[in-house]
Amino acid sequence: MPTIAVTGATGNLGGLVIDHLLEGGFPADEVMPLVRAASKGERFAARGMSPRVASYDDPEGFARAIDGVDKLVLISPPSLDNAVRLHQLHGAVMAAHGGHLTQLAFVSFSDAEKRPFGLEDVDLAIEHSIRAAGIAFTFLRNSVYLEELAPELTVAVESGQLLSATENRAMNWAPRVSQAAAIAAAVTQDGHIGSTYNLVSPTPYTYDDVAALLTEAVGRQITHRPATPSEVDSALVDGGIDPEHAHSVANDFHVAIARGKCHTTGNDIERLSGHSGGITADDIAALVKGTA
Ligand SMILES: NC(=O)c1ccc[n+]([C@@H]2O[C@H](COP(=O)([O-])OP(=O)(O)OC[C@H]3O[C@@H](n4cnc5c(N)ncnc54)[C@H](OP(=O)(O)O)[C@@H]3O)[C@@H](O)[C@H]2O)c1
Repeated sequence: MPTIAVTGATGNLGGLVIDHLLEGGFPADEVMPLVRAASKGERFAARGMSPRVASYDDPEGFARAIDGVDKLVLISPPSLDNAVRLHQLHGAVMAAHGGHLTQLAFVSFSDAEKRPFGLEDVDLAIEHSIRAAGIAFTFLRNSVYLEELAPELTVAVESGQLLSATENRAMNWAPRVSQAAAIAAAVTQDGHIGSTYNLVSPTPYTYDDVAALLTEAVGRQITHRPATPSEVDSALVDGGIDPEHAHSVANDFHVAIARGKCHTTGNDIERLSGHSGGITADDIAALVKGTA
């Protein structure tokens, strides 16, 4: 069996990728969760895995950590500063270039060319540099995680109204767990080198659709009400959402959807993993209950 290292192992997506690797029968001792401090690796060692310490901020240490690794799942770091993220990911790609990887699975962003949120140029640049370096790659382009909707859903359940400034244009959210399943499949099955996959929903969802699913999930009517970004912003803040986050949801996220920047749909999640990638009322109920 090849060894598989996973960055962001302590994070939501990396943790789910690791869970899927193990659930799929991949040997635990061949899984190398990459963590920022040895203490963060203990939980993985307790499950029989072989954690290694690697920070994006220490390219030489990162290179040492992936020395001898066969496959690397490279999940974008969370910094919203493009210069920082570019520097961090560039270091990881250089480390991968100097190693002997048989597959670099880079988790980038769907619809990156449309620049929905202003962060995607970094993902595109890194995809290009991986290709240019001649590394055996698989690109797994995330959609926005369905879980990102949770604060809006919570406010809607309280008020009975789901506000959006999306002009009821569609979005391609997919549950994070289904995206993680597809990533795990892409590094354990044969035949995915040189491929790019869009980890997006199979059908588009508007806020009308989300309100209908939310209604089903909570068993009472939740209405979608079209609004301006500033109305959405105020409603979220009034509902207890952190003002900076509320502002970003209303002015970045909803506006990007209204401009049709996140509506690519497809079946890559299902083709890779067997998960549909679609959204159910149960998914929405779990988000509202905080159990997703
Ligand atoms: N598609 C979407 O909707 C969406 C939404 C938000 C974010 N994202 C992107 O998707 C990625 C994964 O999402 P997530 O929900 O799993 O994020 P997350 O839960 O915030 O996890 C981030 C991971 O990155 C690690 N990390 C942070 N800085 C690092 C560094 N300098 N060196 C090495 N590791 C570092 C963290 O380690 P520690 O535990 O040590 O902090 C953690 O394991 C994010 O990093 C972000 O780029 C996508």
